[in-house]
Amino acid sequence: MRVAVVEGDGIGKEVIPAAVEVLDVFGLPIEKVPLELGYGKWEKCGVAIDDDDLDVLKSCDCVLFGAITTPADPNYKSVLLTIRKELDMYANIRPIKPLPGVTGVTGKSDFDFVIVRENTEGMYSSIEEIHDDVAYTKRVVSRKGSERIAKSACKLAKERRNDLMIVHKSNVLKSDTLFLDVCRETARSEGVDHRDMLVDAMAYSLMTYPERYDVVVTTNLFGDILSDMSAALVGSLGLAPSANIGDKYAFFEPVHGSGPDIAGKGIANPIAAILSMKMMLEWMGYQKEADLVEEAVGKSILEKITTPDLGGDASTIEVGRAIANYIKDM
Ligand code: NAI
Ligand code: MG
Repeated sequence: MRVAVVEGDGIGKEVIPAAVEVLDVFGLPIEKVPLELGYGKWEKCGVAIDDDDLDVLKSCDCVLFGAITTPADPNYKSVLLTIRKELDMYANIRPIKPLPGVTGVTGKSDFDFVIVRENTEGMYSSIEEIHDDVAYTKRVVSRKGSERIAKSACKLAKERRNDLMIVHKSNVLKSDTLFLDVCRETARSEGVDHRDMLVDAMAYSLMTYPERYDVVVTTNLFGDILSDMSAALVGSLGLAPSANIGDKYAFFEPVHGSGPDIAGKGIANPIAAILSMKMMLEWMGYQKEADLVEEAVGKSILEKITTPDLGGDASTIEVGRAIANYIKDM
């Protein structure tokens, strides 16, 4: 396996080395290909990602990614959108699962669900018209796009508790009627138990009864918002991992951004990056190693080797090293 390792900007440069230190403990046959992308590269070269970078990414099986700074400059082309599109990674997967000893805004810890967000169309179609007094964004929902995300969600549901929740706003948006219909048809033909809910009711329900859900599938914008909101159930942005998966390539990254307010201080929580690396191990088929990573992460929190966001005083490097050492001792 070849993995492109993109640290990116800000705390990406701190959390990815910690994740790589943990990965290296296993001595797996994984070739790491370092690649510089993002704002730092843009400042130096005037581009954040170029065709050569895309060739390198395509020569790899997957990407382990930190975070990049996105300036408000209209000439700046989003690296993440470019990569998602070029590598056609249509499923954004966000597991929402509490870690031992940490609770989020609700104080609950009895939930374990996954948000599967369609990643290529919907409100983020980039089909827009801007005039002086009015602006339009075209929301695109295709049968093909809905079918493949529904299949990804059903596959996950079958590996988990066989319970799919389809989230939409079909009472107002006709495009969501298509999404809902295709998800229902797919779940039926895959033999997956399914329900559906309007997105506004779902936002309330996820915060109130998160334990009721297993796999939640939804369109791009709704998934973006619900998944960031759900990260609050877990306790810190520094704990939330994610994956972007297509038929050919996959991309693993912490949910958080480049953390400019804490960058360079060595205090960023590396756990989101380490759990993203864990998702990469699972995707590669190294389930045993992935389970060890999760166990070691839990141990580091219970033994209070944590960064300041979790109330501790350990550094990014110390947390990563402790997790690596637990695995060595297991
Ligand atoms: P952010 O996620 O970088 O930071 C939000 C808050 O959470 C900050 O107070 C930060 O210190 C804290 N935080 C984030 N990660 C943490 C960690 N691992 N440990 C401890 N605390 C952590 O989001 P923000 O400030 O909105 O964006 C900063 C930059 O990152 C922007 O340029 C934005 O465009 C970019 N960004 C990039 C993403 C990506 O590469 N996927 C995702 C989100 C934002
Ligand atoms: Mg987001």
